[in-house]
Amino acid sequence: MRVLITGGAGFIGSHLADLLLEKGYQVRALDSLDPQVHGDSPSRPDYLDPSVQLMVGDVRNRSDVAGALEGCDILVHFAAAVGVGQSMYRMEHYTSVNALGASVVLEEAVRRRDSIRKMLVASSMSIYGEGLYRCCECGDFAPRLRPSEQLERHEWEVRCPVCGKASTPLPVPETKSLFPASIYAINKRSHEEMFLVTGQAYGIPAVAMRFFNVYGTRQALSNPYTGVGAIFASRLLNGNPPIIFEDGLQSRDFVHVRDLCRACAMALENPAADGRVLNVGTGRPTSILDMAKAIARHLGRPDDDFMIRDQFRAGDVRHCFADCSSISELLGFRPEIEFDRGVGDLCRWVATSTATDRVDAATRELEERGLTR
Ligand SMILES: NC(=O)c1ccc[n+]([C@@H]2O[C@H](COP(=O)([O-])OP(=O)(O)OC[C@H]3O[C@@H](n4cnc5c(N)ncnc54)[C@H](O)[C@@H]3O)[C@@H](O)[C@H]2O)c1
Ligand SMILES: [Zn+2]
Repeated sequence: MRVLITGGAGFIGSHLADLLLEKGYQVRALDSLDPQVHGDSPSRPDYLDPSVQLMVGDVRNRSDVAGALEGCDILVHFAAAVGVGQSMYRMEHYTSVNALGASVVLEEAVRRRDSIRKMLVASSMSIYGEGLYRCCECGDFAPRLRPSEQLERHEWEVRCPVCGKASTPLPVPETKSLFPASIYAINKRSHEEMFLVTGQAYGIPAVAMRFFNVYGTRQALSNPYTGVGAIFASRLLNGNPPIIFEDGLQSRDFVHVRDLCRACAMALENPAADGRVLNVGTGRPTSILDMAKAIARHLGRPDDDFMIRDQFRAGDVRHCFADCSSISELLGFRPEIEFDRGVGDLCRWVATSTATDRVDAATRELEERGLTR
C-alpha cells in the first residue's frame, strides 16, 4: 500500500510518515520545501526518514501532483500555507496554495479514483472561531468573536449575550457552528468541504480531521506564524521572553503530534471514519501561560519572565478545546502522551536545534496593519 502525503516534509507530515512506515506502508511525500518552514536554502530535512520518497514540487502544479499520485492507494493532504495572522495580509498566497492547491490535488485524485482507496485532509480548530460556553442562568451559547469595544476595555473573558454574566467554556463538538475568523481558517473550512464533497460525488472514501493545537519535535522553530510551543521555545533560547497576548489565561487544546498521527492512521484504516469530520485533541484546556511556564521550566529558564502584552490580536479566540467523543466512540482513539512529558520531549529537541527568532518582525507586521491593539 503506497501513501502520498502532500506537505510530507513538514512537521505533522513527517511524523505521520514515520508511523505509516512502521506499519508497513510505502510513503511518498510531495513538498515544495517552503522557505518560511524549511529555511532560506531549503533541502531535504534531516528528520525525514530515508525511506520516504520525497518529490519536491508544488501542489498547484498539475504535473508535480500527477507524478506524485502515480501508483498511490491513499492520499493524505497536509500541504498548506499555515498561519492565522499572516493569512490576513497574504490573502492571495494563502488562498492560492490552499484552495487552488487542493483543487489540483482533487482533480488528479479523481482521475485515479479507481485506484485511490481513501483520502484524508487536515482541517483545523480555527474554523470554529470562538469556542462553546455555558451561562449558568441562560444555558449554552456559541458566540461570534468578542466585540472590539469589550477588548478595547481589556475585558478578555466571554460574557453571556443575554444577561452579560461571566460564562464557563465547554468542550467544542463537531456540530458547533463554524465562524472562521481568518483567511487561513476559511481556507481550512474549504479544505474539509472540498475533500468531503468530492469524495462523496466520486465514491472515494474521505475523512477530514480537525486538528487542535499540535505540538512536538520538528515544528518549524524559525517560523513565527505557527506553533505557540515552538515560538516560545525559540524566544527563550534566543534570550528573549515569550510574548503573550491578552493576560495569558486564554486556553487551547494541545495535542502531541504522535498522538495526532495515531488518530490519522486509525481514520485511514477504519471505514467508520468515511465521510466524517473528526476533532483531534485531548479534551483538556491548557492556558497559554501554562504552556509558556512548562516550556521555560523544561529549558531551565525562570518561569515568570514573560512579556504579557495585555493587547489582543484581531481574530483571536478566548477558549477553544475539543470534545473528543466522536473520535473516541468511532475509532477508539485516546491521547496517550501526557502534557508535561510531551513538552519535555519538545524542549529536549529544541535545545539541540538552531532557531532564528523572527517573532519581533512578525509582531511588527501585525502592528503595522492594525491587526494587534
Ligand atoms: N500545526 C498545527 O497545530 C495544525 C493545527 C491544525 C491544522 N494543521 C494543518 O496540518 C497540516 C500540516 O501542518 P504542519 O503544522 O505540519 O505545517 P508545516 O508548515 O510544518 O507543513 C506543511 C508543509 O507543506 C509544505 N508546503 C507549503 N506550501 C506548499 C505547496 N504549495 N506545495 C507543496 N507543499 C507545500 C511546506 O513546505 C511544509 O513542509 C496543514 O494542512 C495545517 O493547516 C496544523
Ligand atoms: Zn446569561
